[in-house]
Amino acid sequence: MHLCSRLPQNSMPDQLRFDGQVAVVTGAGGGLGREYALLLGERGAAVVVNDLGSSRDGQGQSSKTADSVVQEIRDKGGKAAANYDSVEEGHKIIETAIKEFGRIDILINNAGFLRDRSFMKMEDIDWDLIHRVHLRGAFITTRAAWPHFRRQKYGRIVLTSSAAGLFGNFGQANYSAAKMGLVGLGQTLAVEGQKHNIVTNVLVPAAASRLTESVFPAEFQRLLRPALVAPVVALLCHADCPASGAVAPAGVDVARALRTRLPPARYQYQPRDAILYALSIGVSLSEPHGLRYLYEAHDSYAVHPMFPALFVNAVDFTRLASLPGFPMDLSQLLHGEQYMELKKPLPSSATLDVDFKISDIIDKGDKGALVLLDVRASDEVGDEVAYVQVTIFLRGAGGFGGHARSEHTTACAIVPDRAPDATLPYSTCTDQAALYRLCGDRNPLHIDPDFAALGGQERPILHGLCGLGVSVHAILARYASDQPEALVKVKARFARPVLPGQTLLVDTWREPGADRIVFQTRVKETGRVALSGGYVELRATEPAAGAAGASLQQLVAQRPGLADSVRGLVQFNVTQRGRPAAGWVLDLTSAPGRVSRGTAAAPVVTVTADDAHLVELFSGRLEPSTALAQGKLKVAGNPALLGALRGLFGTGSRV
Ligand code: NAI
Repeated sequence: MHLCSRLPQNSMPDQLRFDGQVAVVTGAGGGLGREYALLLGERGAAVVVNDLGSSRDGQGQSSKTADSVVQEIRDKGGKAAANYDSVEEGHKIIETAIKEFGRIDILINNAGFLRDRSFMKMEDIDWDLIHRVHLRGAFITTRAAWPHFRRQKYGRIVLTSSAAGLFGNFGQANYSAAKMGLVGLGQTLAVEGQKHNIVTNVLVPAAASRLTESVFPAEFQRLLRPALVAPVVALLCHADCPASGAVAPAGVDVARALRTRLPPARYQYQPRDAILYALSIGVSLSEPHGLRYLYEAHDSYAVHPMFPALFVNAVDFTRLASLPGFPMDLSQLLHGEQYMELKKPLPSSATLDVDFKISDIIDKGDKGALVLLDVRASDEVGDEVAYVQVTIFLRGAGGFGGHARSEHTTACAIVPDRAPDATLPYSTCTDQAALYRLCGDRNPLHIDPDFAALGGQERPILHGLCGLGVSVHAILARYASDQPEALVKVKARFARPVLPGQTLLVDTWREPGADRIVFQTRVKETGRVALSGGYVELRATEPAAGAAGASLQQLVAQRPGLADSVRGLVQFNVTQRGRPAAGWVLDLTSAPGRVSRGTAAAPVVTVTADDAHLVELFSGRLEPSTALAQGKLKVAGNPALLGALRGLFGTGSRV
């Protein structure tokens, strides 16, 4: 039932008042209940503040918390009385209301605690305690209030359910079942109360409290203040509340959600941020071009072209929890797919304007809903530098009668039915996620073992975008000589999580006649696909064998001894897909050697190879003997000097 759609326009008073009414709030010593009690007290109601004063998992008892909230209400000039009984004896709480204030008009069933266990380990006591307090407690308390409501032909009841009940949550079978039981109880009370003017509604809150301290990331905790939920409760228990039997928030109005503008943001970065990102996706000084991404004073310093993946960190995701027309339960949100288009090379530092828009919401029925979030970043002169589309998968949010397809989606690639053209390995390290999170995504799922266990993971998982960064980086190095400007588009689906320390195998297929590399990324240890349907679209750049030349320059600087044994000019004829692309001369007539473009008049050795193969040779990823045998490398000239050149081709390799 849709609460929002039932509200008549402009019929509510400016301020909801409860003068002369008596409200009971259970579990009001802290968290959400305290905020409800304070608001109702401020707005004229006399409040019975009930709290057992137990711990987060229901242990112990104390009168302190209820007393302190009563004091707060009285300090502000309101009326309040404390009650310390458990809701299991809810009739005593109602008795307090009658004894202290002579009546009861409002009952907010809010008390509760958690006893999370995986279903395998759940014992009778875990199940029973949760049911006794959440479901049976609400029954006992409400049953005691019901005759009063009937007699006075007025009553307002709020029951508290949870997203864990509506959608399920790992480790909360007991809690989910009790919370869903409250939905059923609420529906029936709404029906039975109708002719007596007893209105019952079910609240599904989301707020930072001791219950959710291990559920929501720290950023969410700061924003999801319990005080923001209290006005909804005030509306639900007001005389003018027109809803009964509603499960709030539940109104779906996709058109309205699509019309809603998310607030634009700024994304600011410095070389330090881009270098940290490059390191966290595995860029290393051991690669021929590692230095260019890791050293801001390098001649050809570049921000890694996958860096725009971070722009989405500027999105205030908590906004989605209250998105008009389609409020999202953030605990059910998964990153489904990622698409990225680079429009302009990224400056080394910038302040970008980042615009967000939900371009569509797709109904996937029982499975859930897909939310397409478009992110566009523009530079200081207003040029768009990157467009990113994040596909959010929202578990349990489907079945709202929406369309199952969208023209706004960017399709994944179909992996060819043949062996990959190349498989590129990358071993992630144990601390990969610990490093990547410093780039901005601080979700504890990637670092906190307890949090990961709650999410059903054996240990903290790697960020999906980190695995994507690693994969695309390997593809760029293999197929585009690691030229940052070669990257045009990237798409992939996050199929399964990766654990830090596992080895990624990026299977790649070059599509004939197209500058498109289709890929999937597997986990070596499990053989399962982590990134599926991926592709990278490359732009034919004018590398002029810049990649090989840059590697050569770097290598020569690192190996000054080369000149001692060669003492001559070495000619590198670099080709691109078989065609001559550039010439480099390695002048080893004096130490440490010098690299320049051009053609030597009388080289002592001439090396001919494709730009990408030369880069592989220099990095040691391709064995010179293999390259020679496969025709990828041709060497002519003084054979006596060839051995001396081995220092150029990876460590310990022999020409
Ligand atoms: P909280 O732990 O801050 O407050 C719950 C209060 O209930 C505590 O003060 C506790 O002492 C009291 N309590 C526990 N057992 C009791 C009993 N047998 N009798 C009387 N009082 C008892 O937690 P929070 O977050 O304020 O939760 C309030 C309600 O909202 C709970 O029913 C919870 O399940 C529900 N909820 C909260 C969500 C959130 O995001 N915080 C999400 C979904 C549901």
